[in-house]
Amino acid sequence: MAQVPTTQDALGDVYEPAEDTYLFLDAIQDEKVYLSTLNPNIVLELGPGSGVVGVYTMNLLKSQGIPAILMAIDINQEATACTKKTAQLNNVVNIEIVRMDLLTQLQLRKQVDVLLFNPPYVPTPSEEVGSIGIEAAWAGGINGREVIDRLLPIVKNILSDTGVFYMVIVAENRPKDIARIMSANGFNTTVVRSRQAFNERLSILKFTRMASETL
Ligand SMILES: C[S@@+](CC[C@H](N)C(=O)[O-])C[C@H]1O[C@@H](n2cnc3c(N)ncnc32)[C@H](O)[C@@H]1O
Repeated sequence: MAQVPTTQDALGDVYEPAEDTYLFLDAIQDEKVYLSTLNPNIVLELGPGSGVVGVYTMNLLKSQGIPAILMAIDINQEATACTKKTAQLNNVVNIEIVRMDLLTQLQLRKQVDVLLFNPPYVPTPSEEVGSIGIEAAWAGGINGREVIDRLLPIVKNILSDTGVFYMVIVAENRPKDIARIMSANGFNTTVVRSRQAFNERLSILKFTRMASETL
């Protein structure tokens, strides 16, 4: 795993790497050969929190001789600061970090080769969604889908023709419904890894464009 700032002060109001994070890292490791073949230019991590997932991905690519650029976007200012520190600690220099709500201010027409998102997936009352602090790490609203559902329809606009999108979900997020929405947007869905962690059935979903969509 990549090195992260370890004291409570350094992590501050930032999501500390947990079971979901570790499953995500394992899935990326599983995908090493696929990602090497993809030879990505731009990796975009939404909600990097500590930054460990994006930074780990960058170093995995670097070990394969692939000099990609990492864009990291988090709504929490402390998460962007922590991601910067994690990148520095792990010698990742090709990185742009922005505090932003999802992709609202970005024009990235089909330029992202690898999109990573461990979203706020916990089912909560809708009123808890929309924080810019630590609550943004987990509060997912109805079915834990309120942030996820804002992203799904725009993935097709930002992902390159051969691009891949990986996302963490739990069973309550209704993965079959997510796959149905992504299918309507021209994407195949597969499960890279699943694990029961305490009360959460976690999975890492992988989305790639259907062959007919890349022509
Ligand atoms: C579950 S944490 C994941 C953190 C880290 N990627 C990991 O796997 O440990 C979700 C992250 O998404 C961020 N986030 C939540 N809503 C967001 C939004 N609308 N736009 C950007 N980032 C958001 C949170 O601030 C938090 O850092």
